[in-house]
Amino acid sequence: MQLLKALNWRYATKKFDLSLKLRIDQLNFLKEAIRLSVSSYGLQSYKVLIIENQVLRKDLRAVSWDQAQITDASHLFIFCARKTDIEAEVDAFVNRVQDKGSASQVIQEYGQSIKASLKRKSAEELRNWSARQTYIALNSLMIACAEAEIDACPMEGFDAEAYNRILALEEEGYEATVIAPVGFRSTEDQSQFRPKVRKSEKELFEYIE
Ligand SMILES: Cc1cc2nc3c(=O)[nH]c(=O)nc-3n(C[C@H](O)[C@H](O)[C@H](O)COP(=O)(O)O)c2cc1C
Repeated sequence: MQLLKALNWRYATKKFDLSLKLRIDQLNFLKEAIRLSVSSYGLQSYKVLIIENQVLRKDLRAVSWDQAQITDASHLFIFCARKTDIEAEVDAFVNRVQDKGSASQVIQEYGQSIKASLKRKSAEELRNWSARQTYIALNSLMIACAEAEIDACPMEGFDAEAYNRILALEEEGYEATVIAPVGFRSTEDQSQFRPKVRKSEKELFEYIE
């Protein structure tokens, strides 16, 4: 019930209070929630940039339809999906599992089977697959924010190619997929007073017995 209360409390924040910043413990909490996200095969084939720098955020706002949240929030989270060399993610995953004490041969073979199944995807499918993982992480951030009474706005309204260029993401084999300014709502943000609009239970769910 506490969670539902939190989910009703949250909303896609349009106007942040510039003077309010996340404390380090709040930031660490959000990072840990993202880190614990589920992901396909457990690969977490992405990285997350957390940007405070205002000069950089001004440049990013200019390629985000001038949405004020980009510069006004306390921190800007940018989810970046691995675009190339996804095999490296599999190798890194295998190493992590081994570090936790799993039998080497079993996990090596598992790694090979992951690579084989990823190879069956076209380049476009692989890109979509990788991008989808970042949206799961985004939602972990949204729920963690709600729980901690921190505000956020999930956003796709930005020029991803410009982000890739400004942040030199392609060189590292990543691409920006979705972003989230995070901070604290302004009391003037009218969006917080709007009712939640969602499908009814009947519209959304279908039972098959
Ligand atoms: C993937 C995604 C992209 C979104 N892009 C934007 C955006 O660019 N700008 C914005 O103000 N809101 C954006 N939103 C917020 C949605 O409009 C909002 O979550 C939705 O209307 C539900 O309202 P609520 O979050 O206030 O409950 C986005 C949401 C999601 C999940």
